[in-house]
Amino acid sequence: MVEKNKENSIGQVFTPDFVAEFMVKNALHFISHPDLKVLEPSVGEGVFLTHLIRNKIANITGYEIDKKLYDIISKKFPEIELKCDNFLNMNGSQKFDLIIGNPPYLGQNYNAEIFQDYVKKFPICSQFFVGNMDLFYFFIHQAITKLKPGGILTFITTHYWITKSRKTGVKLLKPHVLEECFLLQYVDLSAIKLFKRAKGQHNCIFVMQKKTGKEKRESANKSIEVIKIIGGNGKSYFDHELNHQIFRDLIDGNHSDHVISYVSALTNNDLSYSGSWNLLYPQEVRHIVSRIEKYCMNDNKIQYMKDYFMIRNGIIFIQDEIFILKRDKNFQIKDNEFYVKIDDKFIKILECEKSRLKKIYKSRAIEPFGFNKNNYLGYGIYFNKNEFIHSRLKIRNEKYEMTYPVLTAYLKQFEEQLKKILINAKENPLDLFFPRRGAFFKNSNEHDGQELIDGESLYESGNKIFFKYISEENVFGFSDGPYYATSDTYFLWKKNHSEIIDYPFIIAYLNSKIAKFLFKAKNIVIKRSKTKIEYGLPIPNLSLFHEEEERSIILVIRLLSNYVMFINNNSLSTSYIEKILSISYFSTHQGERLKKDIADAFLSNDKNHFIKIIDILFFQLFKLDERIIDSLQQRYY
Ligand SMILES: C[S@@+](CC[C@H](N)C(=O)[O-])C[C@H]1O[C@@H](n2cnc3c(N)ncnc32)[C@H](O)[C@@H]1O
Repeated sequence: MVEKNKENSIGQVFTPDFVAEFMVKNALHFISHPDLKVLEPSVGEGVFLTHLIRNKIANITGYEIDKKLYDIISKKFPEIELKCDNFLNMNGSQKFDLIIGNPPYLGQNYNAEIFQDYVKKFPICSQFFVGNMDLFYFFIHQAITKLKPGGILTFITTHYWITKSRKTGVKLLKPHVLEECFLLQYVDLSAIKLFKRAKGQHNCIFVMQKKTGKEKRESANKSIEVIKIIGGNGKSYFDHELNHQIFRDLIDGNHSDHVISYVSALTNNDLSYSGSWNLLYPQEVRHIVSRIEKYCMNDNKIQYMKDYFMIRNGIIFIQDEIFILKRDKNFQIKDNEFYVKIDDKFIKILECEKSRLKKIYKSRAIEPFGFNKNNYLGYGIYFNKNEFIHSRLKIRNEKYEMTYPVLTAYLKQFEEQLKKILINAKENPLDLFFPRRGAFFKNSNEHDGQELIDGESLYESGNKIFFKYISEENVFGFSDGPYYATSDTYFLWKKNHSEIIDYPFIIAYLNSKIAKFLFKAKNIVIKRSKTKIEYGLPIPNLSLFHEEEERSIILVIRLLSNYVMFINNNSLSTSYIEKILSISYFSTHQGERLKKDIADAFLSNDKNHFIKIIDILFFQLFKLDERIIDSLQQRYY
């Protein structure tokens, strides 16, 4: 049972007057006749009611659950049919032309009891409950059922439900919306902070229209208008004056530098039931993306990152402070000998134990085409569970203790602490010597099903690409030698054993301006969502480049990229430049013009110089005009 006072204050954040004014006038562009029947499902202090009345709407129903607020508003708006009740409890067959408001936001994760209570009490909630959802999803579900065919629903909410995909709380919301409604308009407010009190919110206003029976039968389609607010003073900064000005301009239809509007390249029929909706996708941007994707086809399908790589986090230790040894804290190196601190003394480790210490990097060490070798966190103690396998774990541990006496003695100082952590996490306390995650990963293989891969050999040698767990930039690092990293690093592990990956080409592509453009166009912000990069970033198929000139551009890209990847490697000498400049590309008109740049880049030995040249080559390869991409980026992102 939910305590009364807790329920009373659910999601009480009130809408600024100018936003409500905009939403009411905006909604009336979509639906307008003399007897509109309107519903405000969570009235609050009544800001929407004020603007509905000002716009001569007479037939209004409102719900507000909080008795205190209800008493105030029922006095203030005697002409309105107000109910002091839970909107999710609204039954009966009343239907509306317009439903408008700002529903309460409340995450299910932290408010499970309220959701449980609602699921028990209200059919709409038991029908549409999903873990990880937000309370306002129920408001959308309920509102959809209360609309007349052709009726309009407009809410201001957080925007996550639009961009969220698989495995999140939108599993039932997106299908319900798409089956019953058209999305007509999407106002993206994520660049401004509208609510002073609410934290960490990115908002949007949407306008939906309930489909008629005929529209459903005929699978009718409609386009989606996007209004994107740009260039606020940063997402986290609350600027009332600026917000006010932006909305005044919207209401008055004035041109504003803070607003761009366009028809989304996605129509309603393009929206997926389970995936993210990338609505901020102008037609002209899509046009360029399609031209890039043409080079990413295989068997008539676009190849994405997921077709080549699996993305996995780096290593998680039971406790970093214990497992990651730091100089002078718990670790020393003298005359090539390593010492660890046991009982306040530094004890020398055996020669064979050295191989169990791995330089560990955090994601801040990642640089385009490589990583900063000196920027490591410390030495991680990495025992491999595959080294001594025994059905009795006690015996297995004894074998490690015999082979690696000093390092295991070091860890055993913290035995109690480590065991406690493992027990709390419902893991085996006898696993106290090993990394907790990131040492083995499952690779689903088309032919032999699932296979468990030992990460050590991959971290230790062979080509690997990695990037930051949280980043808006397309910075992809590379190493062909040992590289062990913490879990704020994502590794791209090659998926299919038979497939050969052209690492220099791929790494150049991933770090290119073209990939940067794709990141923006496809909204691939990497933030705990590897799904977006796996499913969103197309990867060129080299076998589609047949022309002699294309092949020679690829060759130049590959050699330059290879140079940048190993820029500090002295074995690459002047003959390398000669090798590059002898490629047939340099006898073309375009190639002639790049010759001097390349010679200069080698002289300066500056990575960024090479990266710029590689960008030019990619534009030539994809037959795209860099200036067009620049102007699109400037206009829309
Ligand atoms: C985000 S506020 C918005 C209020 C108003 N619509 C506005 O925009 O200023 C949500 C309001 O809904 C009320 N509320 C919360 N849960 C409710 C429910 N289940 N039914 C009706 N009202 C509810 C809260 O008390 C709060 O006043």
